[in-house]
Amino acid sequence: MAATDAQTQPWWKRGLIYHCYVRSFMDGNGDGIGDLPGLISRLDVLRDGTPSSLGIEGLWLSPVYPSPNRDFGYDISDYRAIDPTYGTMDDFDRLVAGARAQGIHLIMDLVVNHSSTEHAWFRQARTSHENPFHDYYLWNDGVNGNPPNNWGSTFGGSAWEWNEQTHEFYLHSFFKEQADLNWRNPRLREEVRGIMRFWMDRGVDGFRLDVANYYVKDAQLRDNTHELIITQPMPGNPSKTLFIPMSREVYDHTVDQPETHDVLREMRGVIDEKPGRMVVGEITQRTLTQVLSYYGDHDNELSLVFNFFFFVRHFRAKDFRGIIEQTFTLLPEGAWPAWVLSNHDVVRAVSRYHLTPVMAKSMIGLLLTLKGTPFLYNGEELGLANTPIPRRMVQDPVGKRYWPLPVGRDGERTPMPWDASPGSGFTTGTPWLPVHASATTYSGQSGDPASVLSFTRQLSWFRSHHPALHAGDMTIVDGPSDTCLCFARTSPAEHMTVTINLSSQVVPTPCSSFASGQNPLFSTEDQPSTHSLAPWEVRIAAAGA
Ligand code: GLC
Ligand code: CA
Repeated sequence: MAATDAQTQPWWKRGLIYHCYVRSFMDGNGDGIGDLPGLISRLDVLRDGTPSSLGIEGLWLSPVYPSPNRDFGYDISDYRAIDPTYGTMDDFDRLVAGARAQGIHLIMDLVVNHSSTEHAWFRQARTSHENPFHDYYLWNDGVNGNPPNNWGSTFGGSAWEWNEQTHEFYLHSFFKEQADLNWRNPRLREEVRGIMRFWMDRGVDGFRLDVANYYVKDAQLRDNTHELIITQPMPGNPSKTLFIPMSREVYDHTVDQPETHDVLREMRGVIDEKPGRMVVGEITQRTLTQVLSYYGDHDNELSLVFNFFFFVRHFRAKDFRGIIEQTFTLLPEGAWPAWVLSNHDVVRAVSRYHLTPVMAKSMIGLLLTLKGTPFLYNGEELGLANTPIPRRMVQDPVGKRYWPLPVGRDGERTPMPWDASPGSGFTTGTPWLPVHASATTYSGQSGDPASVLSFTRQLSWFRSHHPALHAGDMTIVDGPSDTCLCFARTSPAEHMTVTINLSSQVVPTPCSSFASGQNPLFSTEDQPSTHSLAPWEVRIAAAGA
């Protein structure tokens, strides 16, 4: 594929997208919970037009709609409002305006595989078969009082829950308070298109679609396959293994149904009604080939699809290289990758891979130099680790349900450590989850040129000024050993090489013809050696025209 001219590159391909877990970002009113006024007050650290901010291009907000918070916002009870915990619609409009003034594009989380059972639609739907909203959800009579099939909830137990009023079961792919919507109902489809237009009209630039491959389920309700597995990577810690024989459900009849692609094409049609809008999808459970199929044929489904495959690999050059090569081999023509190393559902990369600050820099170096859109999860720019959560403080219902298994998600959702004051500069009150006790703070790292934050800002600034990095093509080159990742990034105007030493060794011979030593433009080292790469060094060099 020809390298794209930086000028014609849309913002969501060009720039860094920041994933903001609003509840933990910045509290504006002292109730211990992050909110929109708090976020507005910190927009300048995200982008202020100088190298002393992160220089983000897009900001993805975790769900801020009204929600009973059974799944912390992923159970929405009103798609056209803002939860009072986070602020008002006026605050939202101020956020849109403030973000726009800084050159930041806003992405909302759209959770439409399911709604909260507190949503007015479901409260109507559950009252009778005749109710006009009944068919917005998925119902079944079951067999002799039992669910109609073996479908399981992703969070455990049966995916079917009995509804006494209508004497039938409804489907919930997650908690029973998250009822699955019926995507075969044209009225529901129109309803969701209306919600998208509502937010786009308010100035939203895109959506992150929650579990976008779950939308349509098998019409015949055929049983899912169950595989018996005796070892599997420990959830959240793939370097350890659980040796418990367990049955793993293959979601062969509940996810990735062909009609889901029709739905996504329709949604993409709405996105394309306004220029410069985008849609990124969360596709889980399946193989890389299946995941990448959600770009559609000739770019007619998702603009971007998260690539989560680094999550299950070791922090090693050959592991990363394998994923990168497979991705570029399987990526449909013209599609643009989206790279992720951490998010609000998995153990933070720093803890998952046991990274020191210098290693965290190599990781961010990789994220910001690969061809594709980097998604950075708040705190990642500090090299933040997971926070240990004592049992009495567990908030995530998944964590409560499976305690003491390490599957709860609170540890990666704790508040930002802004400074060393009580409440960590996050709140004047008591934070809803504890702040990491030994985390270095934003303000501390800001003043330290050797910090992970300073490095991230510098590299982001460098990246945004070099079309080879944010728009160019990429070719992997064989490194000196399997300790290094080496690749070329080229645009019509620039040829660059990136070398990342993913080892604690000094690597004596930098990638031969690649000559990273010759023209170092950027390095994690103050004085990069022309003969070798320092442990964990990230080096970008000019490769000559
Ligand atoms: C997605 C979200 C996760 C949520 C689930 C159900 O995976 O990222 O936080 O629990 O969907 O909506
Ligand atoms: Ca608050």
